[in-house]
Amino acid sequence: MLIVSNWKAYVESKEKAKMLAITAAKLAKNKAHELVLCVPAPYLGLLSGTAGVALGAQDVSVSLGGAATGEVTAGAVASLGATYTIVGHSERRSMGETNEVIVEKVRHALAHGLTPILCVGERERDEDAQYLKVIRSELSAVFDALTQKERMELVVAYEPLWAIGKTADEAITTDDLREMVSYIRKVLGDFVPGKASAKIRVLYGGSAEAVNAPLLANDTGIDGFLVGHASVDPVSYSALLKALS
Ligand code: 13P
Repeated sequence: MLIVSNWKAYVESKEKAKMLAITAAKLAKNKAHELVLCVPAPYLGLLSGTAGVALGAQDVSVSLGGAATGEVTAGAVASLGATYTIVGHSERRSMGETNEVIVEKVRHALAHGLTPILCVGERERDEDAQYLKVIRSELSAVFDALTQKERMELVVAYEPLWAIGKTADEAITTDDLREMVSYIRKVLGDFVPGKASAKIRVLYGGSAEAVNAPLLANDTGIDGFLVGHASVDPVSYSALLKALS
């Protein structure tokens, strides 16, 4: 499986960043999973070259560079050896990031050889299943704007907002996840013809921990996880990976 850590802003010292990266490198040795660490941008240079682990950013700038104080461009991220970037995380969408901006960011990421991990997810579940429309519109806004070749480069992370930052028992159920992954694949099938859409990797994120991840991985159609809080503690991160082996 593809297990992407999203350290968010939980890691605020280079010592902790190094310690977590060493833990990941040790766990990567058994090659059970493909591991990606999406770290705060200042740590990308420090951690580049970590054995067996790919690095990613948590966002890239919509700016192409130049006079844009404080922005971290896709080019700068790629030059430090990162190969992935999260785009459209709900914690950035909630600060006003629009689908139009997300499309631009995806384009910049692709132009610099970064694999975009596009996050989609509903704020809440309603009885009329309007939440499916949210997912369709977030996916369509990006996939519609890309070429066939570009569409195949994306990883999709389904992260329902109501499940983020909680505990395993408040995360999604296996049945609900299976239904959503099948819906996501149906939407992707509208943009990528034939069997090719099945090759686009779909991850789940939202309180994935050692206790629930194996169940969520079982027969739901996901290709991996985007992990927040459980990825910034070496004990819970190791337990999660071991539980999935
Ligand atoms: P948690 O695993 O902390 O719920 O975070 C999920 C997430 O937002 C990953 O991007």
